[in-house]
Amino acid sequence: MEFPADPIAAVTHPDPYPYYRWLSAEKPFAFDQSLGLWVAASAETVGEVLADVRLSVRPAGEPIPQAISGTAAGRVFGELARMNEGARHVTRMIEEVWPLLPSKGINAVMWCMPVFALARGLGVESRDIPMVATCVKSLVAAFAPGASTSQVEAGSEAADRLRALLETGIPPAAVANCVGILTQAFEATAGLIGNALLALGHHRIGIETAGMELMEETARWNGAVQNTRRYVNETSLIMGQEVPAGSCILVLLAAANHDARANSNPELFLPDQKPRRIFTFGSARHECAAGRLSLALTLEALRRLDPHATNAAMARFRGYRQSANLRIPVFAED
Ligand code: HEM
Repeated sequence: MEFPADPIAAVTHPDPYPYYRWLSAEKPFAFDQSLGLWVAASAETVGEVLADVRLSVRPAGEPIPQAISGTAAGRVFGELARMNEGARHVTRMIEEVWPLLPSKGINAVMWCMPVFALARGLGVESRDIPMVATCVKSLVAAFAPGASTSQVEAGSEAADRLRALLETGIPPAAVANCVGILTQAFEATAGLIGNALLALGHHRIGIETAGMELMEETARWNGAVQNTRRYVNETSLIMGQEVPAGSCILVLLAAANHDARANSNPELFLPDQKPRRIFTFGSARHECAAGRLSLALTLEALRRLDPHATNAAMARFRGYRQSANLRIPVFAED
């Protein structure tokens, strides 16, 4: 199979991992002319870049994406801060929201269950949960680069409704963090569930035998978040190279997962491998606040799906949803 054209095209390529392994070995940190981005592709460079306190997660001068700046969606985005969520109560959260799902098919479980469960965890009443999920969907669409004016408007209305619903005397930043938890949970966890179903189907592993190691290996082997970005505010020496102010570094989490120096035999799916290094949830300061929680949510969702869901997923798989960083499988309707 041909290599993808570049690391962004890799996100939705049928099998980007041979390319990632090549990049990781041959070009661990290099400037990609066609993308105009620096690319970090090995476990070492990804780890270094994510740990570098000089680099920021948004470009200097544009802390809030221009399209949503000054709107309710922008205020929520601007106030997002580090959250700390435990993996407790996952079973109970899902038990309570399972009856509220519009169906028990793959798509409903991927796209509704994580947000329903987290909304429940945040104390939203059952009758409001489906509305919360709809608002989260609108808000995520408004956050996406290239969102249309009407999407930004709809997202802002959704942000206001979510605030109104969640605001019960807690400070605005706490409300924004609640909304942040819901939006973060939405797409990446949908991808985690979908990719886990495909991995089980591909390796002919029964859902009933699935445990946390298997979820971890899915996240390493075919991660739902393939890359993230860091911005260079002042010219800096990074991995021995001078990187000019204003540059952006594309941090290939998925390539680091497949770097043989981090995980031996990275091309193999090895649920029992120890130690395993997973970059899918980032690392250092901005590491995902809910890595284990989202793995636990995925496992619990899988256990509740029809035992044949993996076969159904294989048969209905239609490739990956268009995206510059998320690898989320598309399944034909149940
Ligand atoms: C329950 C669902 C989830 C919640 C509530 C959640 C929450 C968060 C939060 C609050 C952050 C920001 C941390 C910070 O900036 O300090 C974050 C970062 C991140 N999350 Fe999650 N997350 C969830 C699921 C996932 C999943 C399923 C993935 C991957 C498959 C993922 C990958 C990441 C990554 C890569 C980052 C770091 C991005 C960077 O360093 O630029 N998250 N998450």
